[in-house]
Amino acid sequence: MGKFDSARREILKNAGLAGVGALASGFLLNSAAKAAGNIKTPPQTEGPFYPILNQLDKDADMTRVKGHAEFADGQRILLNGVLLDADTREPIAGAMVEFWQACASGKYDHPNDSNTAPLDPHFQYWAQVITNNSGQFRVLSIKPGAYPASEGWDRPPHIHVKVHKVGYPSLTTQLYFKGDPLNEKDLILKKISPAERHLVVVDFAESPEVARGTLEGAWSIYIGKFLASGGRSTVSGRMLSTPEIE
Ligand SMILES: [Fe+2]
Repeated sequence: MGKFDSARREILKNAGLAGVGALASGFLLNSAAKAAGNIKTPPQTEGPFYPILNQLDKDADMTRVKGHAEFADGQRILLNGVLLDADTREPIAGAMVEFWQACASGKYDHPNDSNTAPLDPHFQYWAQVITNNSGQFRVLSIKPGAYPASEGWDRPPHIHVKVHKVGYPSLTTQLYFKGDPLNEKDLILKKISPAERHLVVVDFAESPEVARGTLEGAWSIYIGKFLASGGRSTVSGRMLSTPEIE
């Protein structure tokens, strides 16, 4: 069994998301501490490709579809995440975090995606995970391809994310890859102030903790509770008015 198979087995074992390693946990806690202050993860547009066709396999391993012998194409990535209350900095357990994204060619598994790039039949496209008692989650995926949004504008690789937890407004945002040259010109990422962009940009790098060839990254998500008695939502940032391009 190869190293990647081992990593995958580990992910599946932790499908309940109760097993993020001590090293990763320390990294996440450090990230959380660094970001201490009045910080919330900024929202981003949902885009037009939120899944509308149900699929049976929505587990934390997006690199393989249940029943398929082959793996998805592309650069494998392992995302170690933690969901935190923006005000108390306490971990939020039992939240659902959804991920949907294009495959390595930049194509979504959605009937309205007119991109002519090929679909990867072995990529899962959509995942739903539940945070563990420490607010942690883990997803194994591939780096999505860039794709054209309009004349002169290619969207950088990104992963769409939605967070659902009773007591909190849902957060819809997008995760980006640190160092990607398309980030600087992206009209959607630029809606977030330069000072806050680091909250949605993740540094994926080689790690001794994961199989060779898989890049690992850590991400802390901060969400604010509903305010009591008619207060407005505490989700940070303005709602974005960008047309539903992506
Ligand atoms: Fe997108």
